[in-house]
Amino acid sequence: MAAFHFAVLLLTLLAVQLSEASRPSLFASTNDTPGGNSTKWAVLVAGSNGYFNYRHQADICHAYQILKRGGLKDENIIVFMYDDIANNSMNPRPGVIINSPNGSDVYAGVPKDYTGEYVTAANFYAVLLGNSSGLTGGSGKVVASQPGDKIFVYFADHGGPGLLCVPNLPYIYANDFIEVLKTKNASGTYDEMVIYVEACESGSIFEGLLPEDMNIYVTTASNANESSWGTYCPGMIPPPPPEFGTCLGDLYSVSWLEDSDVEDLNTETLEEQYLNVKLRTLNNNTAEGSHVMQYGTQCISNETVSVYQGAGTPNLTSNPIQSLGSMGVVDQRAADLYSMWQTYEKSALEPQQKIDLLKEIKEITTHRAHVDNTIESIKGELLDQEHMSVRGAGSALVDDWDCLKSMIRTYEAHCGSLTQYGMKHTRTFANMCNNGVTQEEMDEASKARCSSYSMGQWNPATVGYSA
Ligand SMILES: *[C@@H]1O[C@H](CO)[C@@H](O)[C@H](O)[C@H]1NC(C)=O
Ligand SMILES: *[C@@H]1O[C@H](CO)[C@@H](O)[C@H](O)[C@H]1NC(C)=O
Ligand SMILES: *[C@@H]1O[C@H](CO)[C@@H](O)[C@H](O)[C@H]1NC(C)=O
Ligand SMILES: *[C@@H]1O[C@H](CO)[C@@H](O)[C@H](O)[C@H]1NC(C)=O
Ligand SMILES: *[C@@H]1O[C@H](CO)[C@@H](O)[C@H](O)[C@H]1NC(C)=O
Ligand SMILES: *[C@@H]1O[C@H](CO)[C@@H](O)[C@H](O)[C@H]1NC(C)=O
Ligand SMILES: *[C@@H]1O[C@H](CO)[C@@H](O)[C@H](O)[C@H]1NC(C)=O
Ligand SMILES: *[C@@H]1O[C@H](CO)[C@@H](O)[C@H](O)[C@H]1NC(C)=O
Ligand SMILES: *[C@@H]1O[C@H](CO)[C@@H](O)[C@H](O)[C@H]1NC(C)=O
Repeated sequence: MAAFHFAVLLLTLLAVQLSEASRPSLFASTNDTPGGNSTKWAVLVAGSNGYFNYRHQADICHAYQILKRGGLKDENIIVFMYDDIANNSMNPRPGVIINSPNGSDVYAGVPKDYTGEYVTAANFYAVLLGNSSGLTGGSGKVVASQPGDKIFVYFADHGGPGLLCVPNLPYIYANDFIEVLKTKNASGTYDEMVIYVEACESGSIFEGLLPEDMNIYVTTASNANESSWGTYCPGMIPPPPPEFGTCLGDLYSVSWLEDSDVEDLNTETLEEQYLNVKLRTLNNNTAEGSHVMQYGTQCISNETVSVYQGAGTPNLTSNPIQSLGSMGVVDQRAADLYSMWQTYEKSALEPQQKIDLLKEIKEITTHRAHVDNTIESIKGELLDQEHMSVRGAGSALVDDWDCLKSMIRTYEAHCGSLTQYGMKHTRTFANMCNNGVTQEEMDEASKARCSSYSMGQWNPATVGYSA
């Protein structure tokens, strides 16, 4: 009898210890106390490339500086960036990247884990899962997290309903990303995770898709059906230094980054940061703002920001702005063309460079109009008016993700690459799937409109398919 009781006691103790191991935050402030055994990890992803998308890599570099200052170690910060900005021939400050008009260099010291052709959806998934054998290229760093660890993920780029862009196709699709998070959850290799996402329609990545029982808390720049915004753009207030022909940041991103620059992260909670960022991203309630959203395990938001970002002494010389007044902004999808025009009109380019830039602007504008017109026309043929609307809050974009991807490939095969711009139309493709339009119908409709179109640089056979 005594032996039996002893065994029960032992089992109970063991169970308590196990649950303690998987949820240490309930008991102590984990790695904030010396001797704690919890590591802070971070994955930072800039999903675009090109000088006219300067701002996304600038945001990511700025985030690195905050985490580094906060005490995270380089071995635990994994950075995805194309890395074509600092040395870009159009960069007025060679070797330097800034993220606000009076800001200091944010490029120095940033680890180059996955650059150029290795900034891919597959590498992003492998890094999150700590799956070294799933990697192609890069530094080989992965989130090799343990049960008590905290993980911070920050993504900045273009997106569209149901997806996030990366510079190498195919893109990150919401269902695949959520599946990766579920796998990570099932592996029991973290305590809690916080994800910040800047992209158009970023709410659609999580809306109706992210379970609340995975200890993952998310904020997004926009809801499931609106744009997010670039800021610090030439010709706007506040402007970048006059020699810059491109935007330096994005509204949601600089809102949290500059908040982390000035606040005491040991006392500010994630909820407080969310409220500050939400207010600033509303942009004085103008149409040129977006609605910051929260998803997942809400109670995580009452932890302090320092649990994920660390806490260092703010560098006040870097002069964060934190303006709550209206900010000049440009729609993410128009920001690159806007920057190209600004550069064309006022910068001191060589005559040949000007000719090339104008040609590029014309080609991009023509292709975008082709994408918009053909999809509008296909939509008119294949979808009834009542099937074009946005699904209500709490519903996923689409039920059959393979159907969505297949619709996208079918369109691109006939009409050319959607490009990061054209991903704004994915809700139309999703609605086709939700309403029983077949691949054959899509194939016929695309062929009818695009068989005489010359795809040029947008041929998916060379650039790849978005899905
Ligand atoms: C702390 O973590 C390290 C590495 O994950 C592990 O080897 C060690 O056993 C842990 N120590 C305790 C006391 O849990
Ligand atoms: C940028 O140029 C510097 C100096 O020439 C060089 O050391 C560095 O490797 C270059 N970086 C990239 C990403 O090309
Ligand atoms: C940048 O600094 C200059 C000089 O200190 C100041 O006049 C200007 O208002 C600052 N710009 C912003 C956007 O803070
Ligand atoms: C790691 O990635 C490879 C390639 O994608 C995959 O085959 C394998 O199942 C993954 N392993 C784990 C543990 O996720
Ligand atoms: C996440 O992991 C927890 C703990 O193992 C488990 O209770 C929960 O069901 C998992 N959630 C999902 C959506 O798999
Ligand atoms: C954190 O949030 C939970 C759920 O919203 C709440 O019950 C709890 O009191 C909060 N804890 C703190 C320290 O604010
Ligand atoms: C603070 O920013 C200034 C430039 O604004 C820079 O020269 C200095 O190195 C920074 N200090 C730290 C500790 O990062
Ligand atoms: C906010 O917008 C209102 C008009 O709706 C305007 O009167 C006010 O000046 C704006 N505030 C700032 C700080 O820009
Ligand atoms: C867009 O999404 C928001 C939040 O889910 C919702 O309140 C709004 O009604 C939606 N807009 C449309 C046009 O459906």
